[in-house]
Amino acid sequence: MNLSQAEPEFEALLDYLKHNRGCDLTEYKRSSLVRRLRVRMQSINIGSYQDYLQYLQSHDQEWMALLDTVLINVTSFFRDRDAWDYLAHEIVPKIVASKQPDESIRVWSAGCAAGHEVYTLLMLFAEALGIEACLQRVQFYATDVDEAAIGQARLATYNSKEVTSIPPQLLEKYFEPTPNGYVFHRQLRRQIVFGRHNLAKNAPMSKIDLLSCRNVLIYFNGETQASIFVRFHFALKNTGFLFLGKSETLVNHRQIFTPINLKHHVYAKGLNLELDNHLLINPKSSKKQALDAMTYQVRIWQTAYETSHEAQLAVDVNGRLVATNEQANILFGLTLNNYHRPFEELEPGKLLGSHTSMKAFYRNRRRITLKNIEWNTLKGTSYFDISIVPVFSQKQHLLGVNLTFIDVSDR
Ligand SMILES: C[S@@+](CC[C@H](N)C(=O)[O-])C[C@H]1O[C@@H](n2cnc3c(N)ncnc32)[C@H](O)[C@@H]1O
Repeated sequence: MNLSQAEPEFEALLDYLKHNRGCDLTEYKRSSLVRRLRVRMQSINIGSYQDYLQYLQSHDQEWMALLDTVLINVTSFFRDRDAWDYLAHEIVPKIVASKQPDESIRVWSAGCAAGHEVYTLLMLFAEALGIEACLQRVQFYATDVDEAAIGQARLATYNSKEVTSIPPQLLEKYFEPTPNGYVFHRQLRRQIVFGRHNLAKNAPMSKIDLLSCRNVLIYFNGETQASIFVRFHFALKNTGFLFLGKSETLVNHRQIFTPINLKHHVYAKGLNLELDNHLLINPKSSKKQALDAMTYQVRIWQTAYETSHEAQLAVDVNGRLVATNEQANILFGLTLNNYHRPFEELEPGKLLGSHTSMKAFYRNRRRITLKNIEWNTLKGTSYFDISIVPVFSQKQHLLGVNLTFIDVSDR
């Protein structure tokens, strides 16, 4: 079997997955994709891409098994111990020292797999601040594209082999041995917000002090890595740090990140990045499409998150929720798990849907404001002015819409 990268049968497979299963693997490095696909095909005794495509078409669950093989979930507590020691002694104290005593700290483990990484981060901050202060001040986000991995992470239960890499005094302090395994500190783990999040597609978290994304980027091609670094730049506070895996570097992205410790792959946020400066990161890029996609993400993200104190959210042209600000999350009880769900199925979408059709809006492409829209909930009745604003690319392609909900109940 010839598994060369340019084979049309291989491309047909990726195409099928993208259009029929909503699973876009085109951003992943071809060499590792080919290798992982081969592993899966061999395990079910299939020798050609063509046969595998047929198999995918006739077995509903197969794409999930394939995804499991592609998204390698290998992880451990204190993975690359030296780097974690450096973080504990140099970076965490810096972050703590830069804050007022009661100021909050935000930490993101992106590509958290089964949670080992975010619990390691939690132990570091609990050690630096004390458990009480950590409970009051530190908010952790743990995200992964793999729902099953997040499920594991939420359980916070690990077997005796997995916990061997945890220093004994920390194991004793933060884990409870139970008949099912070692369970992470119940109260502390409530500090973590878990969610499904695709680094290559979804808008980033914001105002992050420490972003750990380890052993994830190696799977992506250069173009996608560049777009992820832009998102990371936006995610971090100006004083924030980025912590990468042992074999991951930012060699081509030095303009936007400054190395703090190259051995341990810790970087600080570099120059201020304007919307159009993304070209700096990849000046030779010929793949305009990837850059357009990136601009699209950034534009929607910026519009939705930063422009006002009103509840705002953004929906893409396919009618999927792509970004929300904190006001919208509070108002409608939205979480990361709602990202990429059809907007019409969500509470604000239902509220809107009884007054206007998004399809009609996409046809007309003009900004509109709906006045005094009544919203009945268990808490009572409120009234909103809802403004719907189209978001266009520089070439005037419609990217999506930005919705603002202004509470006019008291007016
Ligand atoms: C090798 S594990 C690394 C886990 C952990 N960060 C560590 O270093 O131990 C890679 C993780 O990246 C996740 N991943 C792969 N593609 C992703 C994407 N597009 N967005 C978010 N996570 C992704 C996989 O599901 C997997 O859990």
